[in-house]
Amino acid sequence: MLRENGLTVEANARDRNLGRDELLAGVQGRDALLTMLNDTIDDEVLAAAGPLCRIVANYAVGFNNVDLAAATRRGVLVTNTPGVLTETTADLAWALMMAVARRIPEAQAFVRGGNWSGWGPMQFLGHDLHGATLAVIGAGRIGTAVGLRSTGFRMRLLYVDQHNNLELDRIGGRRVDLEAALRQADFVSLHLPLVPETHHLIGRRELEMMKPTACLINTARGPVIDEAALVEALRARRIAGAGLDVYENEPALTPGLAELDNVVCIPHLGSATEATRGRMAVMAAANILAALNGREPPNLVNREVLQARG
Ligand code: DGY
Repeated sequence: MLRENGLTVEANARDRNLGRDELLAGVQGRDALLTMLNDTIDDEVLAAAGPLCRIVANYAVGFNNVDLAAATRRGVLVTNTPGVLTETTADLAWALMMAVARRIPEAQAFVRGGNWSGWGPMQFLGHDLHGATLAVIGAGRIGTAVGLRSTGFRMRLLYVDQHNNLELDRIGGRRVDLEAALRQADFVSLHLPLVPETHHLIGRRELEMMKPTACLINTARGPVIDEAALVEALRARRIAGAGLDVYENEPALTPGLAELDNVVCIPHLGSATEATRGRMAVMAAANILAALNGREPPNLVNREVLQARG
């Protein structure tokens, strides 16, 4: 799409993240950067890109990898890819919930390992989703989509948000504070952006509030959970399990996490379906084309840049 519109495109042809030096060298003199959520775009990178750079189009809805203040100061537009990945990410949160609750990866490893000698009444006993209480922490687009799916399982729905959410209220959802949600829920699913206020929102104290039978699901951003505290809680069986798509220091895992049998770990796949990743790509390209043609990009997150231009 970018090439068809006359742009010269240089892409990371390596099937791995760019190293810092490669990133700093690669951005030099570019008019636009199309960045991944694991590219740290800070003031140094923006300086390396230079004064021609007009837009950072992040290929993700989350944009905590971009120093928004630095970009705004430099007059660089920042965009994201909201909406198109909402349902896909909500599906994945549910996949994790079911996998943890019914111990699917553990049971599969048992069968594949040739250990199954026959049906047993006590094999891999899990937790029911139907009739359980789900707490959605952060009732934005993705949190709402996760909450709406709970009706199919006839769950009791709690949500934590600054505002009432009419869609969730309509299906019987109840807005509560974080402590009430953590104390009452059987499944806690996180759907918050990573900002200073949400860093380590779930730490030792919060994990202790959860029921010993409860499962924690994170498809938001890793640092919302204090991962060392989570490892401790899972190891001591203070909570029943966790389903994680995101990690505090991706791609590294906190020591001990991968060895636990009560955690399901997958590699940041929230939006990973062919259709959704395609839609995200089109959206990022459309944002770049708009910016380079002097139009307001459809998914601008720092409107202040345009206001400053007047
Ligand atoms: C996003 O877009 O922020 C998601 O984390 C991608 O899976």
